[in-house]
Amino acid sequence: MALLLLLLLAISVVSADEDVFIGVNIGIDLSDMPHPTQVVALLKAQQIRHVRLYNADRGMLFALANTGIKVAISVPNEQLLGIGQSNSTAANWVSQNVVAHYPATNITTICIGSEVLTTLPNAAPLLVNALKFIHSALVASNLDRQIKVSTPLSSSIILDSFPPSQAFFNRSWNPVLVPMLNFLQTTGSFLMLNIYPYYDYMQSNGVIPLDYALFQPLPSNKEAVDANTLLHYSNGFDAMIDAAYYAMAFLNFTNIPVIVTESGWPSKGDSNEPDATLDNANTYNSNLIRHVLNKTGTPEHPGIAVGTYIYELYNEDMKPGPVSEKNWGLFDPNGVPIYILHLTGSGAMLANDTTNQTYCTPREGADPKMLQAALDWACGPGKVDCSPMLQGQPCYEPDTVVGHATYAFDTYYRKMGKASGACDFNGVAAITTTDPSHGSCVFSGSGGKNGTFLNSTAPAMNSRVSSSPTHYLYGGAFTSANLIIKVLLWSAVFL
Ligand SMILES: *[C@@H]1O[C@H](CO)[C@@H](O)[C@H](O)[C@H]1NC(C)=O
Ligand SMILES: *[C@@H]1O[C@H](CO)[C@@H](O)[C@H](O)[C@H]1NC(C)=O
Ligand SMILES: *[C@@H]1O[C@H](CO)[C@@H](O)[C@H](O)[C@H]1NC(C)=O
Ligand SMILES: *[C@@H]1O[C@H](CO)[C@@H](O)[C@H](O)[C@H]1NC(C)=O
Ligand SMILES: *[C@@H]1O[C@H](CO)[C@@H](O)[C@H](O)[C@H]1NC(C)=O
Ligand SMILES: *[C@@H]1O[C@H](CO)[C@@H](O)[C@H](O)[C@H]1NC(C)=O
Ligand SMILES: *[C@@H]1O[C@H](CO)[C@@H](O)[C@H](O)[C@H]1NC(C)=O
Ligand SMILES: *[C@@H]1O[C@H](CO)[C@@H](O)[C@H](O)[C@H]1NC(C)=O
Ligand SMILES: *[C@@H]1O[C@H](CO)[C@@H](O)[C@H](O)[C@H]1NC(C)=O
Repeated sequence: MALLLLLLLAISVVSADEDVFIGVNIGIDLSDMPHPTQVVALLKAQQIRHVRLYNADRGMLFALANTGIKVAISVPNEQLLGIGQSNSTAANWVSQNVVAHYPATNITTICIGSEVLTTLPNAAPLLVNALKFIHSALVASNLDRQIKVSTPLSSSIILDSFPPSQAFFNRSWNPVLVPMLNFLQTTGSFLMLNIYPYYDYMQSNGVIPLDYALFQPLPSNKEAVDANTLLHYSNGFDAMIDAAYYAMAFLNFTNIPVIVTESGWPSKGDSNEPDATLDNANTYNSNLIRHVLNKTGTPEHPGIAVGTYIYELYNEDMKPGPVSEKNWGLFDPNGVPIYILHLTGSGAMLANDTTNQTYCTPREGADPKMLQAALDWACGPGKVDCSPMLQGQPCYEPDTVVGHATYAFDTYYRKMGKASGACDFNGVAAITTTDPSHGSCVFSGSGGKNGTFLNSTAPAMNSRVSSSPTHYLYGGAFTSANLIIKVLLWSAVFL
């Protein structure tokens, strides 16, 4: 019975993952980029199940094989012209970067370029061809149902994004956007959007409240109201997603889902960037993750979860530009968190909230037979690595059922990201705040700032040509009349 309950628990935690996801972008502009095996070890330790690469690095694709991690790969902007001009180049790209790795590496998505319209406008006329050629190559390999093709767009191409009901795409891009949306609709793909409330907030000259940008609770008189729909918006992220739905609807596309290919907040900035702080970055990303995983949806589409990739896994010290550019990461190159997200109760992923350390240990006076059964389950079907409890290993002593169950229960509980319910074991286990570590048997939850990797002597990833976008470039999009209009609109909403 215990076994069945625990199995059910394990299954329900996994299947919740299928509808909605939080992924992480992996930029590689680091002077000491960890080796792909180290990157993957960090992903596993943090239970990150979806990643987006800015290229199709062979080393990363091999390291991601047989991990169950779902992978979005990218055609870098540098390769877009070649692929958009030749379907055989596209077919070669798919055979080398997709067919050679699938299904061992679970490639689910191909991103064609990155913010092409705003960063590489000259290539825009070829963008739809590139989407179609890559898709045809997938069809030829019979992979088009498993792998979706789209292209990440900067949200700056959505004009007048508030109120969302009046948003529309910059009309000069309609000749590209209309065939693109047609393609996304007929292939069952999604619109990819990069959303940065940080920049909207920064550029608003104080008109947008910081709490609105950070998903913090707002008094209802401070919420933004769309006068046409009377919907209340309590954060800029949802407002931008609804703006995207409306902008598509203006072009008569009403059934293309949105996913967010980038969103985040920098943890450090220079003197002109006072809101790039550890606290704000932690608040934004913690709130974003909880918001997405809770499947709250947006005011216009409640309950429709929008899968989101956080920008980004590592701080990228080699990024040019202001200090903030180098500080969007969740981890340093050693895998040590830049800050500990506040995610208690949100499940396994990135659940490294040590502000409130808890452990899972046997209940006092629990029935020894039931304890033994639970221990057997944890070390068997529960997939806990129980080797540290073997004779001669650090957690062998005390060699009692209670001693060993303590280790096994707590390890399982942490494996499940301290999900509520993961510490039950048919009633023989309970959560405690007392660290059960003893001697050399150290429970990983206890203290210890040591990252996953102590050494970065492994070879660095070979490809550095393509990388994540440099945001400060498109800051320019706000300097025009567009910004003034935005500020006026916001003033009307908030003041
Ligand atoms: C939490 O972070 C530490 C590094 O500080 C890491 O060693 C550990 O594996 C992480 N725990 C979880 C549950 O992700
Ligand atoms: C490539 O294009 C040529 C001519 O435009 C066409 O005949 C051929 O079927 C295309 N091949 C693929 C794989 O789409
Ligand atoms: C890859 O991920 C998809 C989407 O979740 C899943 O349906 C499929 O079974 C996975 N494929 C493999 C080979 O693991
Ligand atoms: C719309 O896009 C065009 C072409 O990139 C650009 O020149 C123009 O400034 C954009 N309009 C606004 C209001 O941003
Ligand atoms: C959308 O559909 C309506 C009604 O069919 C039509 O009048 C309008 O021109 C269409 N708009 C676009 C941008 O295609
Ligand atoms: C989670 O969703 C429920 C119902 O959809 C909502 O009431 C609640 O406020 C949401 N919590 C968060 C943290 O978004
Ligand atoms: C710490 O844990 C307790 C008990 O689970 C909980 O009531 C409290 O809200 C937690 N505090 C924080 C800051 O998460
Ligand atoms: C961190 O690792 C170093 C080197 O292995 C070790 O000496 C140190 O005790 C560790 N610190 C903690 C808190 O685990
Ligand atoms: C770490 O690197 C040092 C020097 O490069 C090496 O001597 C040591 O064995 C390495 N430790 C591990 C755990 O790989």
